[in-house]
Formats: sequence, C-alpha cells, structure tokens
Amino acid sequence: MSELAGPERSSRTGAADGRGSGNILELEDVRASYGRAEVLHGVSLQVSNGGVTAVLGANGAGKTTTLRAISGMVTAKGRIDLDGQDVLGSRPDQVARMGVAHVPQGRGTLDQLSVRENLLVGAYQRRDRKAVEAQIAECFELFPALARRQTSTAGNLSGGEQQMLAVCRALMSRPRLLLLDEPSLGLAPRTAEEVFEAIGRLQKETGLSMLVVEQTAALALALADTAVVLEIGRTVLTGPAEEMAGRDEVRRAYLGD
Ligand SMILES: Nc1ncnc2c1ncn2[C@@H]1O[C@H](COP(=O)(O)OP(=O)(O)O)[C@@H](O)[C@H]1O
Ligand SMILES: [Mg+2]
Repeated sequence: MSELAGPERSSRTGAADGRGSGNILELEDVRASYGRAEVLHGVSLQVSNGGVTAVLGANGAGKTTTLRAISGMVTAKGRIDLDGQDVLGSRPDQVARMGVAHVPQGRGTLDQLSVRENLLVGAYQRRDRKAVEAQIAECFELFPALARRQTSTAGNLSGGEQQMLAVCRALMSRPRLLLLDEPSLGLAPRTAEEVFEAIGRLQKETGLSMLVVEQTAALALALADTAVVLEIGRTVLTGPAEEMAGRDEVRRAYLGD
C-alpha cells in the first residue's frame, strides 16, 4: 500500500521531521463566515502525524464549515497550520497541491462517469500513468466491492459504493491528509459500518492522517485516536477518542444512551 501514502510517509510520521509538534494539522481559534454571518466562533483541533481525529457535533454545529475552512473554501480567521505551514487564505487548489484531499459531504462523485473515469479525474494532476494504474489496482484491492463495479457509472452505484469511490478518488491525488465529511450520511447502518471498516483498513495499511467529521459518533470514535466536539461553531470538548466515548455528555448527546 506504499503508493497510497506517497513518498512523504516516512518523513511525516512523527516528530523526526524536525518541526517538533508531531501534528500534521493544527487549528487554533478558527472563525469562519458565509458573507457577513460568522458561523465558526472558535474551533481548535489537531491531527497528529499518522493519526485520526474525529469531529463530532449535531447538525449545524459547523463540522462541514470547519473542513471548508481548512480547504480554503470559506473565509476564515485564526490559525490553520499544515505541517507547520500557514494555509489560512490559500485557495482550494493550493491546499490540494499541499497534500490535502477533501471528500465532501454528499460525496461529489460524477454520476455520468464510470468508476474508473472518476478515479482518473482524481488523478488529473498526475502524469505518472503507470503509477496511477497501480494505484487504481490498489484501490480495488482495498475496496473489492468497487472492483466488481468498475465499469458501472457512479450514478448506478449503491450509496456505500459511491462513498468508497469518493474516498478512492481522493486517494488518487496521493494526499498526506484526508478530510472526510460524514462518510456514513444516508447509508444503512450495516453499510456505514462497512465503509468505516474499509476506511479503518486504509488507515492501518497506509498510516494516512485523517480528519473525519461524523454524526454517528460510535463509528468515528472507533476509528479515531482523538475526538473533538463542536457546538454552535465552537470546540467544547477535546480528548483521546476512547476517553470521549466514556464521557456522559458525549454518550447522551451522540451515542444514544
Ligand atoms: N452556504 C452557506 N451559507 C450560509 N450559511 C451556511 C451555509 N452553509 C452552512 N451554513 C450555516 O452554517 C452553520 C454551520 O453549518 P455546517 O458547517 O454545515 O454544519 P454541520 O456540518 O455541522 O451540520 C449552520 O448554521 C448553517 O446553517
Ligand atoms: Mg455537515
């Protein structure tokens, strides 16, 4: 699976890169607005090198906007550092080129194109055709369900298959940080579990750093090492994922206890 994580992997997994913090992503007191309406009022979070951070929160809490702020899709203030480099104010294409891949809420796959064509769209910046083909093969190994549907158009896939395709397409740019916006949205519980199993396998095999936004807290907490809870545009809780799963307020609000 070396192809998925890219050549940066060995130098990005840990404080040995000389930057010291051990975090691939740090947000501090991030504010973001749509027009004049500020909807993020102080979001702080971190993703460690090779780690997974889950962002939990109710509908409207600002989870999607947080990912958009990282990707340069909304106007933001505060501090957003990728590998110690300030990305605040960068355009989406610049952030993408710095190694951030964003799987949007609702997946964003291209319905009229085949599975294979969708993957090639994800690799549009790459000229190394042989490596691209090798990577498509790796995606199909990781997501066998997708391999069976490779000539289907994305519009004819099931919701779970579309989500897997969206993740694979993001991997085609060889990111070092993957942003996932509600991978379980609209999926039957069993399908959502399968999608998270596949994402977990991907993470284990590649060590790819991830920031995962989810309303289904149990799925996200099982995948993540760190969790953050947002309420009305603010970080209100942060800590190790297993500790968060045991906290009363998290259990009541997000785990259905
Ligand atoms: N394009 C937009 N224009 C204006 N307000 C928006 C837009 N998108 C989201 N919002 C508002 O921003 C807040 C946070 O939304 P969002 O980040 O989508 O939350 P979540 O992903 O946690 O459900 C909500 O109050 C929502 O209504
Ligand atoms: Mg959202």
